[in-house]
Amino acid sequence: MTASAPFGVRIAGSGSAVPDGVLRNADLEKVMDTSDEWIAQRTGIRERRVVDPANEDNVSLGTASVQNALDDAQMQAADLDLLIHATVTAEMTCPSNACRIMANLGGIPSGAFDLVAACSGFVYALNVGEALVRSGRYRTVGVTGCDIMSTVVDYDDRSVSILFGDAAGSVILQRDENPKLGCLYQAMHADGRGWESLYLPRRDREVPASDLDNPIKLGNLRMNGREVYKFAVNKFREVIEDALTQTGLAVEDISQFVCHQSNVRIIQAAKERIGLPDDKVYINIDKFGNSSAGSVGLCFDQLWKSGRINRGEKVMLIAFGGGLTWASSVWQL
Ligand code: UT7
Repeated sequence: MTASAPFGVRIAGSGSAVPDGVLRNADLEKVMDTSDEWIAQRTGIRERRVVDPANEDNVSLGTASVQNALDDAQMQAADLDLLIHATVTAEMTCPSNACRIMANLGGIPSGAFDLVAACSGFVYALNVGEALVRSGRYRTVGVTGCDIMSTVVDYDDRSVSILFGDAAGSVILQRDENPKLGCLYQAMHADGRGWESLYLPRRDREVPASDLDNPIKLGNLRMNGREVYKFAVNKFREVIEDALTQTGLAVEDISQFVCHQSNVRIIQAAKERIGLPDDKVYINIDKFGNSSAGSVGLCFDQLWKSGRINRGEKVMLIAFGGGLTWASSVWQL
């Protein structure tokens, strides 16, 4: 979808939050048959952040991240018309985490809802939020992605648990009179036929026949790593090429490709296939692992706060994940 509406959209501020707890590869070596070398070589991950379940949860991490973005925008929660919170690790299905985050921040009675698109969640939420502001229906919308994956992985399953960490990233979108600001192009896709590659079963009947032989624990993420890897490498390339074609932009026009941090090899493969220079593809998976819906927002915030992306520049945000889902968002900042 290309942009053609009366209002522009500016990113008024960005924020993020990660727990203090650090889980290093060396810590995993003590509880499972793995090694720092295997994890680093196959994924690029050295450590990840994890919540302390006694004191932290998705709502507290999300609240800290939105507050951080509001501070950056010099706004208060009461200035928001709406909060969209992307997550697959909501505390409850009712109420949404978004409602509780807004209650924590004092943003009542703004609209608030959770959005589920797994690791694509932040980019999906950003696209939805931008469209609502661009249309003129809403003036100021908070968008946040937050997952606490450490609470839904089985540390007896070494092929899944080593990948994931906990993080949140947020932006505040605000109506702008300049229609050239905001999302130039967005795409959101899903192919539910591939759901069995990445899912979180709650009941026995949700475990597909293909996995009946696997020792699955209900409430824990199940992933066919090789299938997701192949899907991701292809979709990363496809989604970037599609966005460049649709906008008529070249790689040189984009200051940063803000990619979901899934596995450094997936990002490297996409970089090589499209010919993206190293300095245009930010990597923080070594320190934060794969934080699902938290990952793209966290990268954006670190790039924004460190001055590696600035107003006046164009950026592309890209993600893929469970569903299967994939999405892009090209911005004029
Ligand atoms: O955000 C979106 C969600 N997920 C992804 O993007 C993940 C995409 N997939 C991946 O990143 C990779 O598939 C993994 C990192 C999960 C796994 O890497 P892989 O190179 O695909 O390994 P594999 O599952 O094919 O396993 C290769 C070997 C196996 O041993 P054998 O059968 O060859 O003897 C595994 O048992 O590596 C073994 N293995 C491990 N060894 C040490 C699997 N996990 C581990 C481990 N430590 N943690």
